[in-house]
Amino acid sequence: MQLKIKHSKITFQVKNNLEKGLKVVFSFAENAGEIFKEISKSESASLFENLNKAGSFVIYGQTMLVSLGGSEKYSLNTLTLAATNLAKAIAAREIAEINLDLNNSFADKLAMNFSDFIEKFLVNFINGLYYFDDFKSEKAKLALEKVTLISSQKLDPTISAAIAIAEGLFLVRDLANNPSNVATPTYLGKTAKSFEKLNKNVTVEVLGEKEIRELGMNTFLAVAKGSKEEPKFIKLEYKGGKKSAKPIVLVGKGITFDSGGISIKPGANMDEMKYDMCGAATVLGVFASIAKLGLPVHLIVLVPSCENMPSGTAQKPGDIVTTMAGKTVEILNTDAEGRLILCDALHYAKQFEPEFVIDVATLTGACIIALGGVASGLYVNDEGLYSDILEASESASDKVWRMPLFEEYHELIQGNHADLLNIGGWGGKGGSVTAACFLQAFTDYKWAHFDIAGTSTSPEVKGATGRPFKLLVELVRNYANK
Ligand code: BES
Ligand code: ZN
Ligand code: ZN
Repeated sequence: MQLKIKHSKITFQVKNNLEKGLKVVFSFAENAGEIFKEISKSESASLFENLNKAGSFVIYGQTMLVSLGGSEKYSLNTLTLAATNLAKAIAAREIAEINLDLNNSFADKLAMNFSDFIEKFLVNFINGLYYFDDFKSEKAKLALEKVTLISSQKLDPTISAAIAIAEGLFLVRDLANNPSNVATPTYLGKTAKSFEKLNKNVTVEVLGEKEIRELGMNTFLAVAKGSKEEPKFIKLEYKGGKKSAKPIVLVGKGITFDSGGISIKPGANMDEMKYDMCGAATVLGVFASIAKLGLPVHLIVLVPSCENMPSGTAQKPGDIVTTMAGKTVEILNTDAEGRLILCDALHYAKQFEPEFVIDVATLTGACIIALGGVASGLYVNDEGLYSDILEASESASDKVWRMPLFEEYHELIQGNHADLLNIGGWGGKGGSVTAACFLQAFTDYKWAHFDIAGTSTSPEVKGATGRPFKLLVELVRNYANK
C-alpha cells in the first residue's frame, strides 16, 4: 500500500520477518536498559540516554530503541507522542527503510485490539512526517520509502484505513497552510467539488452570491460584502448509511482572511488570519476521510466561506442586519464576523432534521487566553452528545474542555436597537462564552461548538495542526458503528 506525501511516496507492508533497513524496537522506559543490552549484545551495556520521556530514543548500529515512557503513565497520549517523535527523527536522519516491531502487549496495556492500536500508531506516525513546501523553490523530499510492520496478523485493511485518515488530515493542514491569495472561497469550493470522485454516494453543491442572497443569508453576506472575492456556501452530502438515517451535520468557519473589517486588527501577526478557515479545512478533511473509508453513515458538511475586509462596501459598526432565521443583529464590531457567517449556516442546518450538528471555528482570541493550545473549547447543549465527544476525544488523544452556556452569559448579548449584539460583555469579558451563546441562539437541535482558535495552529509545527480532525473522525466513526 502506498501513501503519497507531496513528491514523496512511501510503501507500507506487513511481514513476518525483518526486511533490510533500520529496525525500530519499542520499550517502556523501565525495560529500556535490558533491551539495550540485547541490542548491543554486551553484558555490561548501560544506556547512555535517558529514555524516561515517551518518544525519546537511542540508535545503536541498525537498531533504534524508542521509549513509550514509563509503563505506569502509558496512555494513548504517550503512544501518540512516541509515534510523532519517531517520524520526525526518521525524517531528520533521512532514513529510507524501517521495520516497526510493535508487539501485541503494547495494545493490551491500553485495552485496545491490535489493529486499532496499529491504526492509531500509523496515523500519528504519518502525521509526524508532514511538511509544507508547496511554495519553496527547493523541495524537501522525504528519504523514507518503505515501512515494514513486523507481524503475523493480517493488517492490510488497517493500513489502508490509516492512510485514508492520514490523507484527510494532510488535506486539512494543506488547506489551512495555503495563503489567502490561494485558498480563496472559490478554491475551497473547487476542492469540495473534487470529493465527488471519492465515492459514488457523494454530492457537492457550491452556491455563489446570488443563490446565497436568495436563501436570505444576510449576515453571511454582510461580512462578505467588503471583499472582491465572491463568497461561497459549500454543501457536501455523503449518503453511506441507511436511507432513513438522520444526518450528522458538520459546519466549518471558512473566513479565508480576517482583517477585522472596518474594526481592523493591528498589523502585527495579521498574516496569521489566513488560518481563519481552519474550521472549514477540518470539516472538509473529515468529510474526505469518511467518504474514502466508505462508512455507513449519513454526513452533511456546510461551509460558509468569504473574506472579512475593510472597503467602501464593507459593513460598518452599528449596522443592523436580519439573519436568515429572522432575528436581527446589531454589528458592534466587524471583527466578530465568524458568528455572523455561522448563524446563517446553523439555521440552514435545521431543514435536515439532524441527529446532531457540530460547528468548528477559530472563533475567539478569548478562547486562546482561556485554554491556550492544549484543549479546544467545547460548548455542548446535550449530555449524551457530550459523553460521545469526550469518548472520541480520549481515544483520538485530541483534548477538549467543556465551557458553560449559562443564561447570564446570554443576557450579555441581548440587543439595544436589535434582537442580538454581535459582541457581549464589558471589555470582552467571557468573550469565548458570549460568542458561543450567540451561536446557540440559532440552534434548536443537539449541538456542539468547538472553538479552535488556540488549537488549530501551533508554532511547534510551524502552522496548522489539523486539530480537531482526529476527534471528529473518531466521533463520526463511532456513530457509524453503533
Ligand atoms: N478570527 C478571530 C479569532 C482569532 C483570534 C482566531 C486569534 C485565532 C487567533 C475572530 O474573528 C475575532 O477577531 N474575534 C474577536 C472578537 C472580538 C471582536 C469580540 C477577538 O477574539 O478578538
Ligand atoms: Zn474577526
Ligand atoms: Zn475570524
